[in-house]
Amino acid sequence: ATAADRITVTIDPAADGPTISRHLFGQFAEHLGHGIYGGVWVGRDSPIPNTRGIRNDVVAALKAIQVPNVRWPGGCFADEYHWRNGIGPASQRRAGRNPNWGGVVEPNTFGTDEFMDFVGQIGADAYISANVGSGTRQEAAEWLEYLTAEQTALGDERAANGHKAPYKVAFWGIGNESWGCGGAMSAAHYLEELKMYSHFSRNYNPAQVMQQIAVGPDGAKTEYTETIMRAWAGKVWSWDIAGLSLHSYTLNGWPPSVKATGFGEPEYARFIQETLGMDDLIRKHGAIMDRYDPQKKVALVVDEWGAWLAPTPGTDPGFLMQQNSQRDAIVAALNLNIFARHAARVRMANIAQMVNVLQAMILTDQEKMVLTPTYHVFRMYVPFHDATLLPARFKPERYRYGKYAMPRVDAMAARDANGKLWVALTNIDYQRPVEIALAVSGRPAVAVSGQILAAPQADSVNTFAAPDTVTPQPLTASMVQGRPVLTLAPRSVAVVAVEQ
Ligand code: AHR
Repeated sequence: ATAADRITVTIDPAADGPTISRHLFGQFAEHLGHGIYGGVWVGRDSPIPNTRGIRNDVVAALKAIQVPNVRWPGGCFADEYHWRNGIGPASQRRAGRNPNWGGVVEPNTFGTDEFMDFVGQIGADAYISANVGSGTRQEAAEWLEYLTAEQTALGDERAANGHKAPYKVAFWGIGNESWGCGGAMSAAHYLEELKMYSHFSRNYNPAQVMQQIAVGPDGAKTEYTETIMRAWAGKVWSWDIAGLSLHSYTLNGWPPSVKATGFGEPEYARFIQETLGMDDLIRKHGAIMDRYDPQKKVALVVDEWGAWLAPTPGTDPGFLMQQNSQRDAIVAALNLNIFARHAARVRMANIAQMVNVLQAMILTDQEKMVLTPTYHVFRMYVPFHDATLLPARFKPERYRYGKYAMPRVDAMAARDANGKLWVALTNIDYQRPVEIALAVSGRPAVAVSGQILAAPQADSVNTFAAPDTVTPQPLTASMVQGRPVLTLAPRSVAVVAVEQ
C-alpha cells in the first residue's frame, strides 16, 4: 500500500475518559416469535439439552459474550403482560394470546421465575419492563414485591414457587414506547404515569440497588425528552429515574423492506449511512438532557437498536425473523463505537433482539443453533466492558457510493482494568482494503494482535449447514518504520490488543 492508503490512528493511553459501561452490551428478549419459546425455553421435558427448561447451548454461547443485562418481557409485549399468568405450577398457568406478534398463543410457561433462572444461568442482570399500558400501578408494585420482598404474602409465594431468597432487579423499566404500542400517550400524560409508577415501584431487597428507566424518545422526536427531563430537573420528591430510554432502529423506511441477503453496494451504503445517524440522535437528545442534567445523572439508555430487515421469506411476518450478515456485523460495531464515544451519557444499550428475532446473536431451529456475525462482534468487544474510553484521533477519509458519503474507517480505543490497551477498528469501505497504522503516545507499541471479522461478501451469513462462513480470524500487525500496521479487508471489524 502507498502511504495514501494508510490511515494513522493516534491513541493516548494515559488519557482519562469515561467508563464504557458493560451495560452498553445488553440484550433484549421479548416474547416474540421464537425469541423465548424455542430460542431460550424448550421446557424441562425437551430432548434438547436443557437446565430446568432453558437451552444449554444458548446459555453457553451467551456466557461467552458476558451478557451484562437482559431486558424482558418486551417490547410491546410488556404493556400487555400480566405477570401473575406466568408464575406457579406449569399446569396452572393461564394461556393467553400475543396480539402484537402474530396473535399466537402465549402459554406463559416461561414467566418470572424462569426468566430470573435464565439470567442467573448466564450471569446477567435483570432489566424488567413493567406494564404501564394495560396494567395498573398495583399490579406493577405487587410484581416487585413478589420479586424482592421477604416476610410478605407475595414473598412467601415466591418462596413456595422455589426461590426463597429475594431476587435482584437491577433495572426496572416503566412502560415501553408509551408514545406508540405502549398506549399512544402524549408526553404530558406519560409523565403523570411515570411519577406514580416510579413512586409506587418499591424494591424491597435492601442489598440490591434498582434503577428505574423511563420511556424516552421515539427516534428524533424530542417531546418525551423535553417533558421528562424538565420535570425531573424540577422534581421535589417521591420519584426518580436513573435512565431515559431511546429506541432507534436502522430501517431505511417503514415497513422494513431491506433484504437480509441478496443485496449489493447501493443497499449497503444507504444502510450504513443511516446507521451512522445514531451519533446525531444521541447528540440531539444529549443536548436536551445536558440542559436539565449537566452532571449527567440520568443515563440515555438505547434499549432498542439494531438492523430491522424484511422478514425471512416463508416465515410468519409477525415473528420478525431475519438472517444476519457481515453488513449487520458492521452495523453492530459502528453503533457500539458510537455508544462508547458517548459513554458519559449513554450508559446502557440493548440490541434487538437476543435470539431468533431481528438483529439476533443466535439463531436456532429445534436442536440446531448458529452464531451470527453480530454475535462475533459482541464477543470481540468483551475487552471493552467497563474499560476506560481513550481518545482516538484519525482522519477517516471518505467512502462514497453514488449520493452516499461516510467515513471510510472508524476507530475506538480503551484501557481495561489491567491497564491493557485495546483498539476496535472498522473498515466501512465496500471495495477497498485499508492499512491502519497505530501511533501510541508515550511508550511505543511493540506488538499488536487480535482478531478480524471479514467475509467473502457483504451479505455472507452463517447457516446451520455452514456455521463458520463468518468467524473471527487472527490478526497481527507488521512493524513498518517502527509502527504497527494492520491490514483490514473491505467491510471488516477488528479488535486488537496493543503491547507496549
Ligand atoms: O423489537 C420489536 C419491537 O420494536 C418492540 O416490541 C417495540 O418496543 C418496538 O417497536
